Amino acid sequence: MFTVIGMKAFVSKPVSGLKGVAQVPGDKSISHRALMFGAIAGGETSVTGLLQGEDVLRTAAALTAMGADITPPTDPGGIWRIKGIGEKSLRTPKENLYLGNSGTSARLLMGLVAGYPVAAVFTGDESLSRRPMGRVVKPLTQMGAKFEAEAGDKLPIRVTGSAALQPIHYRLPVASAQLKSAILLAGLHANGKTIVVEPQPTRDHTEKMLAFMGAQVASEMQEDGSCIITLEGRPQLAGRNIIVPADPSSAAFLVVAALITKESDITVRNVLINPRRTGLYDTLQEMGADIAFENRRSNGGEETADIRVRSGPLKGVIVPKGRVPSMIDEFPILAVAAAFAAGKTVMTDLAELRVKESDRLAAIAKGLTAAGVKVEMGEDSLTVHGSGGKAPQGGCTVETQLDHRIAMSFLVLGMATQQPVAIDDAETIATSFPDFAALMNSLGAQIGPKPL
Ligand code: S3P
Repeated sequence: MFTVIGMKAFVSKPVSGLKGVAQVPGDKSISHRALMFGAIAGGETSVTGLLQGEDVLRTAAALTAMGADITPPTDPGGIWRIKGIGEKSLRTPKENLYLGNSGTSARLLMGLVAGYPVAAVFTGDESLSRRPMGRVVKPLTQMGAKFEAEAGDKLPIRVTGSAALQPIHYRLPVASAQLKSAILLAGLHANGKTIVVEPQPTRDHTEKMLAFMGAQVASEMQEDGSCIITLEGRPQLAGRNIIVPADPSSAAFLVVAALITKESDITVRNVLINPRRTGLYDTLQEMGADIAFENRRSNGGEETADIRVRSGPLKGVIVPKGRVPSMIDEFPILAVAAAFAAGKTVMTDLAELRVKESDRLAAIAKGLTAAGVKVEMGEDSLTVHGSGGKAPQGGCTVETQLDHRIAMSFLVLGMATQQPVAIDDAETIATSFPDFAALMNSLGAQIGPKPL
């Protein structure tokens, strides 16, 4: 039964097929980086297609508070212009840097601030204030930055940077693109080579964009599956025109919605298909999904395609461990797809899911169980027993715990359950996909404030 919930509650009703062509917002990871790198490059950077979600706007506000010159467009889809500081320094902000829900803002900006003689207090919302920052603090401290926290390795944290950082050779304890990027950002200001070894390859937008702006950065895959990234310090970064492709992590919600609703046929345009981001799509194809990549093209070093999806039966699979980093944000929506598959889907090596915007492993397991789906959760694993196409019960309210991807995943689930599925807080969706409900509804979904 539904519980009593407030204005932020949304509900998604079962619908028959989705139809149409859609454009989802710009890639979140690339948007953060375009603003940060543009802010410190020499000359002007223009950014087309920037994600205007709350997380990215937090990055823009923090950079502005430290002296960056960022001009948003006058119309919503327009071009952002950044006049880079070049050889000049960032300045100490007057206020704390409030980074809301955004782990990428917090961790990458720590790496950026580390290389300037400025001090800034980083704060965040309840979710971000629970997330571990020690993984970033440790290598940046070795490079010469200082960190003071009120409690353990959690925000609020005061970061004091230094104009004289040391380069390091650092093996990441976890496969994290945020951690890798924080070290590389600090490495921009160190004399000599900064070398990062990642145990498994993670998204490489930092390396690609820094190279595009003139840095010398090399990436070498090793036989054991690790990847060594080498950055020459003190490059002269030059402003560029950056076009942000659509976010494959946002497109994922439309794709799975089309797969699990009957007789759907949708196309999502111009989606980033960087192989370090498309693990979900590989997995869905192994499950038997009808997904086609059409009109492939390349822009600013990143490849895109139009993704056409038609509904059809899915079968359970075992997700290879090595694929986890390339779909790290997509496990909530994969678990929803798995609920409709024939047989079980086994997902392992998911320890990082415990420290995302929520404990995603627990949030997925709890939500699916409430909707009548059988799941088994381990310390770092999840098995979903699929219904073989039969609609799960639904009829529940899921706690989103300030996690946009949990919110959107369960609204997608409600499109194909017997009874509607509600979430207690849809506001969190604005961090990455502000028009999610309207876009879904334009394709045939019925998502809206509760009662609808
Ligand atoms: C991101 C890296 C990933 C991902 C996050 C965005 C990035 O985090 O989950 O949404 O832009 O570098 P981790 O580095 O913690 O895996």
